Amino acid sequence: MKTIFEPFRIKTVEPLRMTTREERINLLERADWNLFRVAADDILIDLLTDSGTGAMSAEQWAALNRGDESYAGSRSWFRFEQRVHELTGFKHIIPTHQGRAAERILFSCLGVAGKMVINNTHFDTTRANVEALGGRAVDIPVPEARIPSDESPFKGNIDLGELERLLTTAPEQIACVMITVTNNSGGGQPASLENLRAASELCHRAGIPFYLDACRFAENAWFIKMREPGCGDRTVESIAREMFSLADGATFSAKKDGLANIGGFLAAHNDQLARQEEELLILTEGFPTYGGLAGRDLEAIAVGLTEVVQEDYLRYRIAATRYLGEGLMKAGMPIVRPPGGHAVYVDAGTFLPHIPPRELPAQALACAFYVEGGVRGVEIGTLMFGGKDPATGKERVAPLELLRLAIPRRVYTQSHVDYLLEVAAEVAARRQELRGLRIVEESVHLRHFTARLAPLVG
Ligand code: F0G
Repeated sequence: MKTIFEPFRIKTVEPLRMTTREERINLLERADWNLFRVAADDILIDLLTDSGTGAMSAEQWAALNRGDESYAGSRSWFRFEQRVHELTGFKHIIPTHQGRAAERILFSCLGVAGKMVINNTHFDTTRANVEALGGRAVDIPVPEARIPSDESPFKGNIDLGELERLLTTAPEQIACVMITVTNNSGGGQPASLENLRAASELCHRAGIPFYLDACRFAENAWFIKMREPGCGDRTVESIAREMFSLADGATFSAKKDGLANIGGFLAAHNDQLARQEEELLILTEGFPTYGGLAGRDLEAIAVGLTEVVQEDYLRYRIAATRYLGEGLMKAGMPIVRPPGGHAVYVDAGTFLPHIPPRELPAQALACAFYVEGGVRGVEIGTLMFGGKDPATGKERVAPLELLRLAIPRRVYTQSHVDYLLEVAAEVAARRQELRGLRIVEESVHLRHFTARLAPLVG
């Protein structure tokens, strides 16, 4: 069968409000050409993020009602801990309200000030947390990760040669090494088990902690099952377990592959580090058996972590993303290939060669998708990663200018995607008319969330 079979049926629906092109131009002007400033009710298809935007299952809603809201030692905590432990094997599991809280606690306790954190590619919050604590976030993806048209199966891999060089020349300057699975900023591309094993071994030889930023571990494990020799017969759970077994710890946002609307955790094997992390957790998040979450959230995550490794779900999930990616290519839009796990990344730099990086081509494309069809994506380019380098004070431009269309889990149907592809064809037809943007106002950290922009004319 060719049809993508969504392995669920719909029990609760939410209406979507239609808007006209004129209305959307006005709304965008009022939002200073920053889609984060547009109200969700004014969006038709919201692909801003796959984070916390998924639909929960009937089992998860039922689990919410079982939530035990005791401050200490709640039943829901034990359920959560048991499932996370079974999946990851980590000794210490520290719940947090979302992924970035886990990052902040980890980097604070590891002491990143004046040191490097090495990653295949830091996501924006991860980079910002390292930099806010005085560390240096260094990205070393494999070279093919920077070539959008390259079809290599594991473009989320870390560059092992470069990693070895850094680990041997300057180990005292390295706070930790992370691999983000899947590599969100690099196109939602997976890392292979082979790469994770080799990176883990290099780090352990050098005595440097090796971490996973595990937000999308299940999608990564599915790609391993599909693409890595010798893994086809393994269960996703066993692949995921092996991924976690290679690391000294992990940060996790349950808003992605936790299939929940909020939550996360920080995990570690090291007793002393975990004690320190728990102390900071109590200070800033909550007691270690709830970590800033309600008991019901812990329940929803525990169930989500079971549903997310189911193969029917992952088969549908990855097929849906591929369908969008292939459709965009047919509509004449170059994308990061192959399509990622949670999102498709349009290569706006190539699609709009008449708009240079400092004029934010991917943001211009994001605005065009909104104007033409009420579709909201997110710029992953110079608006997100540019700005002043805290180390050198120089203006940075991003290595790639991408528009990410992230797909919320279990939310949109194939008809929604077909509509989106019609919008893409409209945008492609108007490509020469698109103009860049300039930044009118910005913040020091994570400027893309709040920046005010204005279109360039001419
Ligand atoms: N790491 C990665 C790879 C992420 O993609 C995110 C969030 C985080 C950490 C932080 O987790 O949001 O729970 O604090 N990514 C979202 C996105 C926001 O849209 O990709 P959080």
